[in-house]
Amino acid sequence: MKIVSVINYKGGVGKTSLTSNLGAELAWRGKKVLMLDLDPQTSLTFSFISPDVWEEKFSEDRTIKSWLESFDSPSPIDLASLIYTPERVETALRGRGKLDIISSHLGLINVDLELATKLGGGTIAQVKKNFINLHKTLKVGLSTIDSDAYDVVLIDCPPNFNIITKMAIIACDYILVPARPDFLSTMGIDYLIRNVNGLVKDYNDFANMAQGEKFDSIDPKVLGVVFTMIQEYGGGPMQAHAQFMNRVKGMTGISAFPSYIKRNDTLFADAPELGVPVVLNGYNSGSHQSVVDGLENVASDFRKYLGI
Ligand SMILES: Nc1ncnc2c1ncn2[C@@H]1O[C@H](COP(=O)(O)OP(=O)(O)OP(=O)(O)O)[C@@H](O)[C@H]1O
Ligand SMILES: [Mg+2]
Repeated sequence: MKIVSVINYKGGVGKTSLTSNLGAELAWRGKKVLMLDLDPQTSLTFSFISPDVWEEKFSEDRTIKSWLESFDSPSPIDLASLIYTPERVETALRGRGKLDIISSHLGLINVDLELATKLGGGTIAQVKKNFINLHKTLKVGLSTIDSDAYDVVLIDCPPNFNIITKMAIIACDYILVPARPDFLSTMGIDYLIRNVNGLVKDYNDFANMAQGEKFDSIDPKVLGVVFTMIQEYGGGPMQAHAQFMNRVKGMTGISAFPSYIKRNDTLFADAPELGVPVVLNGYNSGSHQSVVDGLENVASDFRKYLGI
């Protein structure tokens, strides 16, 4: 079971759309995929579960919020008990792979603030121990899920670098960075990777220095940048977009996928209401080729890099 965090500080770059459609494409090709929504905006959750059903069946005690609130209580919730198989997706997959989801909650934003209060401590040693114990929460939680149950876990992160996002980085094997081909979206990538490296270094330093308790060190790999919303001209990315792609390819220590997702405003305009990622709607209308142009190639590169 490979754990992949889908992350970019910048909002609206296509994190959630990539998570759901890549997940669905992989499932269509027979893979077992678990998606985890860590964003208080709950966009991924509401792409699969209607707000009414969510309110009635999930909001109270079946979201990542209730799990995070319970993890250090006397009766912690089992992370696996939050897993849900959206029926419409299951039908659309017609017996192929699996696409499950752990839902988010609009109140997750407050949980992030409450978690920050657990970071103090009387001594430096205690502060470091609290840092590790808090940040490895999700890593510990995911390790309780049967590793044969899924080939890959895709974590849809919020557009920030708060504690919950950091938990995802600590928990994952790989980091996938969706980006739009524009100045602001590419500008932050360098900074994001430096922050990820800084967090990993702090965690490992603290883990090595901890006395009395043994903590494993971590080594999440940056899988690469995937460009979303590329417009083509003459068979390749239009020149302005190619410029941003080359700029990222030129950044030291950062790789970019050779494949990319094409922009298609019509396709994505009404996607969330359908309850099924657009790529599956395409396959179900009889096409053997993904309706999300470029997704098949991105999924193929993704599988190659992960070895799944
Ligand atoms: N390939 C595409 N072509 C056209 N529109 C797209 C494409 N991919 C995503 N979109 C649209 O762009 C918008 C932002 O996408 P999405 O919500 O996936 O981004 P995000 O990075 O998850 O945003 P946030 O940071 O708010 O979580 C959405 O309206 C989505 O439908
Ligand atoms: Mg999103």
